[in-house]
Amino acid sequence: MADSAGKRPPTPAPASGGGGMAWKLSLALFVLLAAFLYKQIQPPAPEIVGSPGGPPVTASRTKLKDGRHLAYLESGVPKEKAKYKIIFVHGFDSCRYDVLQVSPELAQELGIYLLSFDRPGYGESDPDPAPSEKSIALDIEELADNLQLGPKFHLIGFSMGGEIMWSCLKYIPHRLSGVAVLGPVGNYWWSGLPSNVSWDAWYQQLPRDQWAVWVSHHLPWLTYWWNTQKLFPASSVIAYNPALLSEEDAKLMEKFGMRTYMR
Ligand SMILES: *[C@@H]1O[C@H](CO)[C@@H](O)[C@H](O)[C@H]1NC(C)=O
Repeated sequence: MADSAGKRPPTPAPASGGGGMAWKLSLALFVLLAAFLYKQIQPPAPEIVGSPGGPPVTASRTKLKDGRHLAYLESGVPKEKAKYKIIFVHGFDSCRYDVLQVSPELAQELGIYLLSFDRPGYGESDPDPAPSEKSIALDIEELADNLQLGPKFHLIGFSMGGEIMWSCLKYIPHRLSGVAVLGPVGNYWWSGLPSNVSWDAWYQQLPRDQWAVWVSHHLPWLTYWWNTQKLFPASSVIAYNPALLSEEDAKLMEKFGMRTYMR
């Protein structure tokens, strides 16, 4: 490289005067415009439950070491008598009330204590200013300790709560007695699945969902705008599009999908 560089003709000096000035101005304009557009596509600031002017606190909440609150809901038998202490992690567009419904009789028979909580930023839990794969696992550990669940507990992750099970298996395995995933959302980019299986699953999505998932994976900063704009179809999950459901699921949805707490 060094000898060929020596043979190269000298680079002409950059144009100075009017031309350079115009270039700098357009660059400044471009940066301003980009900053303006970036601001436009940011999601609005979250409302903080219990803050002045914010929505009131109605849930039981526990305070984490960093000052954030997590709202929670307990059901089943008292934890002191429980054979299984289970923490339920909800999915997308859900909250602590979307916990698996276990009848009191079954809870009694099996000795189940069920703890459900609003994930950070959902329901009445404070948002985490710097959420990560690790932070949610540590939040769950702290929740369990604040509620005195003991050294070990079970986890159930539903839908997008399923991916949090992987976080917990990675970061707090010593606290887990068992983990279950219910209807988990898959990761199409996970190398552990054969690629034909990933592609097969990919094409089972509606095209609009392929786009929505593609954007959230490759352009995460565009996700909020993508799913709130009205120019073209965004995620059908967010839109509650019944086209997502199989015939069988559509029938079951009527029976089980109703959120009685929202009535
Ligand atoms: C993927 O390829 C394997 C091996 O060829 C095959 O057994 C399997 O059925 C394929 N799966 C899908 C979903 O196409």
